[in-house]
Amino acid sequence: MTHDLITAPQPLAEDLAERAFRDPHRPRYHFTAPGGWLNDPNGLTHRDGVYHLFYQYNPLAPAHHRIHWGHATSTDLVTWTDEPVALVPGTTGPDRDGCWSGVLVDDGGVPTLVYSGRHGDRELPCVATGTPDLRHWTKDPGNPVIAAPPEGLDLTAYRDHCVWKEDGRWRQLIGAGLRGQGGTALLYDSEDLRSWRYVGPLLTGDAGTGRSGDPDWTGTMWECVDLFRVEDTDVLAFSAWDEGTTHHPLYWTGRYEGDRFTPTALHRLDYGQNHFYAPQSARDAAGRRILFGWLQEGRGEDATARAGWSGVMSLPRLVTLGADGALHQTPVPELARLRRDHVALGPFTPGPGPEPALDAIRGDQLDLEATLRLAPGAVVRLGVRETPDGAERTVVELARETTAPNATLRLRREASSLDPDTDTTPRSGEVPLAADGTVELRVLVDHSALEVFAGGRALASRVYPTRPDEAVGVSLTASGEARVHRLDAWHMAPVFTAPRALWP
Ligand code: FRU
Repeated sequence: MTHDLITAPQPLAEDLAERAFRDPHRPRYHFTAPGGWLNDPNGLTHRDGVYHLFYQYNPLAPAHHRIHWGHATSTDLVTWTDEPVALVPGTTGPDRDGCWSGVLVDDGGVPTLVYSGRHGDRELPCVATGTPDLRHWTKDPGNPVIAAPPEGLDLTAYRDHCVWKEDGRWRQLIGAGLRGQGGTALLYDSEDLRSWRYVGPLLTGDAGTGRSGDPDWTGTMWECVDLFRVEDTDVLAFSAWDEGTTHHPLYWTGRYEGDRFTPTALHRLDYGQNHFYAPQSARDAAGRRILFGWLQEGRGEDATARAGWSGVMSLPRLVTLGADGALHQTPVPELARLRRDHVALGPFTPGPGPEPALDAIRGDQLDLEATLRLAPGAVVRLGVRETPDGAERTVVELARETTAPNATLRLRREASSLDPDTDTTPRSGEVPLAADGTVELRVLVDHSALEVFAGGRALASRVYPTRPDEAVGVSLTASGEARVHRLDAWHMAPVFTAPRALWP
């Protein structure tokens, strides 16, 4: 039985880590768990010069079960050190079935985690305090610190936390859904992080205005709510959820004032939809807003079980405010440190046949950066992970349909893999262009992990070519009137070069 393994995890753990390391689909410069299962980023913090990334972790199997909190640290957001597992589900108590998502706050010098303890099919807020190095955690004997959801509310779910200090008091949002109404963020306040007063819903979506499959639908529950300010705009990010049908990250821009959030506009946070989920952000010491999300698997369960691992952390993203009032996302500049073997191409005018100069670029760990200009009617297609015969390829397409300064970013995955068990459905979204039709495109390939940034919009996804060693080609074609001002390409050095201990 699974719980017998909890007391003696090492043998199984070693095996998983070895297997995970050998998998050709495993990213080498994105953060992954040493083996087993990873989902949401948690407890994101920059403290004493160290970035702390905690994450939903099952070290025992590549499956979502009895979730622990894994922990890794970095001084540069590029290389990572595995730290001891921070939270293990209790043998008794409110988190015996899992330590679900949450955050880390500094309570007058005492690092404190606020997370969702799971027991049965219920999640309730729990607290743990840590040593100054954030390596060892003690759960509060008073857990759960909130014994039940607010009375009188008919909720679809109740979990995940955003906690901050305001005018000397703690405030907290808990993700929830009001049955028949929509997803919501419930606001609480407290003086000591232990005793909480329910204030009311900060904002509630409208479950009736959409349906599953609609990428703007705010769902029936909001997971992983995250309230933050970028310049003079307040942002309420959440992951729209509906039982079995919907998982995608959205955010409202607007104004947080008093006990309410007044929205201006709803936006999609990542066009990869369910492939980029449950993001969490934090401000670092330099005042930058850094955001991570979970890139879940897109291959079948059997393949995942054989691989010994599941789930990739996105690259750390720098979030700023775009000229159009929406968030602008790019990978943090620190990642440029991994670049090797620079190939600089352009300017050139791409045509319907593959541009021969791109034969110089090959690989499954790549950073591609281009400045493109598209006239109305132009389409540019950048292929990655291509086999020589073209039978497998993934295409990043930018299509400008009209004179309006925007284009559709489309990730075409219909030929990404010949394996019928992999998800090859396309992803797309709108991207702003400069008035002259120019756009900055960045494509980061890391084995099965793919992150695309165009005009500050992001699209993360997963691809699993069946011939991973041969699927290393890159191509560029265009129709209509398009120009490549420059195309720079680099190999990315690996960050993870050896199997890791699963249970440090
Ligand atoms: C989001 C989520 C959270 C929950 C955690 C459990 O992916 O479902 O709502 O706290 O994952 O692992």
